[in-house]
Amino acid sequence: MDSAPHQWWQTGVVYQIYPRSFMDANGDGTGDLAGIQKRLDYLQWLGVDALWLSPIYPSPMADFGYDVANYVDVDPLFGHLDDFDRLLAEVHRRGMRLLLDFVPNHTSDQHPWFVASRASRENPWRDWYIWRDPMPNGGPPNNWTSFFGGDAWTLDPATGQYYLHLFDSRQPDLNWRRPEVRAAMYDAMHFWMERGVDGFRVDVMWLMVKDAQLRDNPPTPGWKLGDSPGTRQIMRYSADQPETHQIVREMRALLDGYGERVLIGEIYLPLPRLLTYYGDHLDEAHLPFNFQLVRLPWQAAVVRQAVEDYEAALPPGAWPNWVLSNHDNSRIASRISLAQARVAQMLLLMLRGTPTCYYGDELGMRDGAIPPELEVDPLAKLSPGYGRDPERTPMQWDASPNAGFSRATPWLPVGEDYPTVNVEAERSDPRSTLTLIRQLLALRRSLPALTVGSYRTASVTGDDLFLYLREADGQRMLVALNFGSAPRTVDASAVGSQGTVLLSTHLDREGVTDLTGLELRGDEGLVIQID
Ligand code: NOJ
Repeated sequence: MDSAPHQWWQTGVVYQIYPRSFMDANGDGTGDLAGIQKRLDYLQWLGVDALWLSPIYPSPMADFGYDVANYVDVDPLFGHLDDFDRLLAEVHRRGMRLLLDFVPNHTSDQHPWFVASRASRENPWRDWYIWRDPMPNGGPPNNWTSFFGGDAWTLDPATGQYYLHLFDSRQPDLNWRRPEVRAAMYDAMHFWMERGVDGFRVDVMWLMVKDAQLRDNPPTPGWKLGDSPGTRQIMRYSADQPETHQIVREMRALLDGYGERVLIGEIYLPLPRLLTYYGDHLDEAHLPFNFQLVRLPWQAAVVRQAVEDYEAALPPGAWPNWVLSNHDNSRIASRISLAQARVAQMLLLMLRGTPTCYYGDELGMRDGAIPPELEVDPLAKLSPGYGRDPERTPMQWDASPNAGFSRATPWLPVGEDYPTVNVEAERSDPRSTLTLIRQLLALRRSLPALTVGSYRTASVTGDDLFLYLREADGQRMLVALNFGSAPRTVDASAVGSQGTVLLSTHLDREGVTDLTGLELRGDEGLVIQID
């Protein structure tokens, strides 16, 4: 095992809060910072270590905060800087950490920089964004398309040029080739570091720089209307440009100047490209988000291969990480059955590396059903069927009206299952998903083999089965997962003859077990200490 001392972001578990949806303290139907503060006892009880807040900056909310109008303040919807400082102090008092979302690729079109930039062709801010003349036929400067659907260019009639936006037209892309842009953004990072923030999750890290010549992207073979807009083109020239790495190194150096802070990168790229964001000298992102579990089909052989490939490909010294759900993807308990979602949570929390949990997944919350008239996500409007509102519904605290989230009508409807799927009900149920997650987190924390131990696939195969070992200091843990609903018996004697079950996803089984004929019930995962 890796015997170097570990940092908090290696041993800890990250919990993503979508602030609009976590807890509304002021009764306006939208979550806020004071609401998060009210629920810190819960998060501490649950046993997570670091809270990552999706954007809380002033924003017109065209993309619900991912359109930032001021990088160094808090949107009044969420509170004020005072509330933020109070929240941060309370998080720290509890021994937890707080991470912010940093959105460097684009601003809001209401940001004063863009307002100035679009005012005339000559103004000093013009080049802070990416402006180009129309093609001779009046069309956009190249063929790039937006992640949300349609062209990535919008014509500004007043100045006669197009500006680039890889997302909504109200999210113009910054020009990171300009030193002034970098300096301004780094100032904003310093602002939050000085306040004591423990790190950043950097939005679309791999998109920050564009090809200097803005060459056309090749189309994705076989893509047809109705497929996801984000996969329409091979983003050869609009993403993952070599110059990006220098910027990530600069961000990392900035954070390193403050001690033990963490830099997490949101990066959707194939594995070999993703891993380059650790940096040639591990001097870029500490954790380039690994979204394989979000993307892959839930099949034992596929997941096992992905874990092995990832473990084998990680650069020496690079720390792994895993994600199961987030605010841009359908929740795990909607992608697969709830029973299998529990197996998936055991996988997430028992793999080597830092897990990121999405708020509400610990309850088995599912995607909400959002009637078309209540859809608010810009993606839903531009590309019907791809909206992300369903995975952003309010946290389900109890069985009272609005699930205890708010006194007012929530900004998105509460999930229909809230009368039973909620914190209060699950807390007192010894078999609930919440109880399982809490026990998994406690087990992970208490056993070095599970926190920092090595990973090895167990040479035990069988349909629907994935077994692996975590080891440290002579301690050996076997994680045995049944990805199917049928019971399976497997000979795991290659690992040992006997073990002790510490935890089952069914929460009804502990004690000595024979490994020569290890029995797994349908949808069962086990953590077994090898005697
Ligand atoms: C990625 C974020 O996770 C997503 O929610 C957002 O819409 C885009 N970046 C644009 O900021």
